[in-house]
Amino acid sequence: MSRVIIEVKDVVTQFGNNVVHDKVNLSVNEGEIFGLLGGSGSGKSVLLKEMIMLIPPTSGEITVLGQNLSSLSLEQEQTLRTRWGVLFQSGALFSSLSVAENIGVALREYTNLEEDLIEDLISLKIDLVGLPSRAATLYPAQLSGGMKKRVALARALAMEPKLLFLD
Ligand SMILES: Nc1ncnc2c1ncn2[C@@H]1O[C@H](COP(=O)(O)OP(=O)(O)OP(=O)(O)O)[C@@H](O)[C@H]1O
Ligand SMILES: [Mg+2]
Repeated sequence: MSRVIIEVKDVVTQFGNNVVHDKVNLSVNEGEIFGLLGGSGSGKSVLLKEMIMLIPPTSGEITVLGQNLSSLSLEQEQTLRTRWGVLFQSGALFSSLSVAENIGVALREYTNLEEDLIEDLISLKIDLVGLPSRAATLYPAQLSGGMKKRVALARALAMEPKLLFLD
């Protein structure tokens, strides 16, 4: 039997009078690729932000990797955040960091890996997403739209996440 990895239960999201979600329910199993379809402004990105604890739902419950997001200690929250990767809709790259530095942010922040190993892992990810190695020293403003997406994907994959969110 497959394990449920994300569970959204009766989620309601409201911004002022704008009801974005009215009791949304879904569950995603381990190993599953789950896509959400809907028109512009229908609430896909907001639901994703709720799943990654950037905004709380107005009501309802969300469980990710076996943890109920509404009842976590700060430490549990931090640990959970290292177990998923996120590719934001607009990339959300750090404009003052190079491509390599953007990809390495979580590795430097959350691991004690040697600098040499971090640099190897960054190169590996740059290669994996199909960027030329010379892109490593470029800054986000010097990238094409597609390159930005690839860097954002490489950054989302940097920590070998159990779960990958793609907006
Ligand atoms: N922080 C916020 N404060 C108030 N309203 C918000 C906020 N974020 C999103 N909304 C509103 O929530 C609704 C859903 O937005 P969302 O970004 O989830 O749409 P989407 O389905 O991702 O659309 P798209 O396909 O264009 O990316 C929209 O009406 C939007 O204006
Ligand atoms: Mg969106």
